[in-house]
Amino acid sequence: MTSLIAGISSEDLAKKISKKLKANLVKSEVRIFPDGESKITLKGKISKSKSIVVQSIYPPVDTNLIQTLSLISKVKEQSREVEVVVPYLGYARQDREFLPGEIVTMKVIGKLFKGAGATRIIVVDVHSTMGLKHFKIKAQNLSAIPDLVNYFKKIKLKNPLVVSPDQGGKERAKQFAQLFGSDYIALQKKRDRKTGRVQIETKGLDEVKGRDLILVDDMISTGGSIIKSTEFLKKQKCNRIFVACTHALLINDAEKKIRKAGVSAIISANTIPGKTSVVDVSNTIAKALK
Ligand code: R5P
Repeated sequence: MTSLIAGISSEDLAKKISKKLKANLVKSEVRIFPDGESKITLKGKISKSKSIVVQSIYPPVDTNLIQTLSLISKVKEQSREVEVVVPYLGYARQDREFLPGEIVTMKVIGKLFKGAGATRIIVVDVHSTMGLKHFKIKAQNLSAIPDLVNYFKKIKLKNPLVVSPDQGGKERAKQFAQLFGSDYIALQKKRDRKTGRVQIETKGLDEVKGRDLILVDDMISTGGSIIKSTEFLKKQKCNRIFVACTHALLINDAEKKIRKAGVSAIISANTIPGKTSVVDVSNTIAKALK
């Protein structure tokens, strides 16, 4: 029987996936020492043939990363195959050298996963699939968009329009709109590579006037992209704005600031547990693992 190891950052999601796969759930117990080190103990037997490790790498990113690698390494001592589900893959935005001298951290992580013993990695809505090329093992990116769309189909909206905050998210917005049955547009966003500040460069937009909008993004970190987009769209006299995103990191008071900017609701997936994470992706993940 396949063992499914639940890392503590994804306990609930791992439990849901293991039920769907009828796998043997192995919990992990973690003690964080005063100096920040993690000490992990596995609470169950590991299969000799195949194990699945489920652990998201959200903040504290480095702690969750070392825990993931430790789990892989320990499980590999028993199991021939170690498949790793990382619902949210931190560092995925560092997939290329934007400024000279920058380290492509995804390349480092790719080597670490392979070195620890992972034979396959599955992620959900990774920032860009370019990052997965640094993993020299089987790598698969799943989409939470169909699950998010199903949630939005239950909300009554006025002449809805799907909006991507930037051109990079255009395909995602298109996929959402096609499944949802609406039009979509993508704004022009510019991010200062040094300060990280964002600015919307799109000028007037008549087509949003009076309509309910669904802002679709892969992730919310500081909320800067969503806040700037919302401020712009509100000036164009749209009706309500909803946010659909896969990974809601919502660093510091991002949620409060987004609400203050005028967003009616943030709906995210349970790749990162939290108040807004109402869309369950366990079925999508379990299907890919079968
Ligand atoms: C950027 O291209 C991504 O798709 C997100 O829009 C971005 O990473 C979100 O970050 P923040 O919330 O800090 O603007």
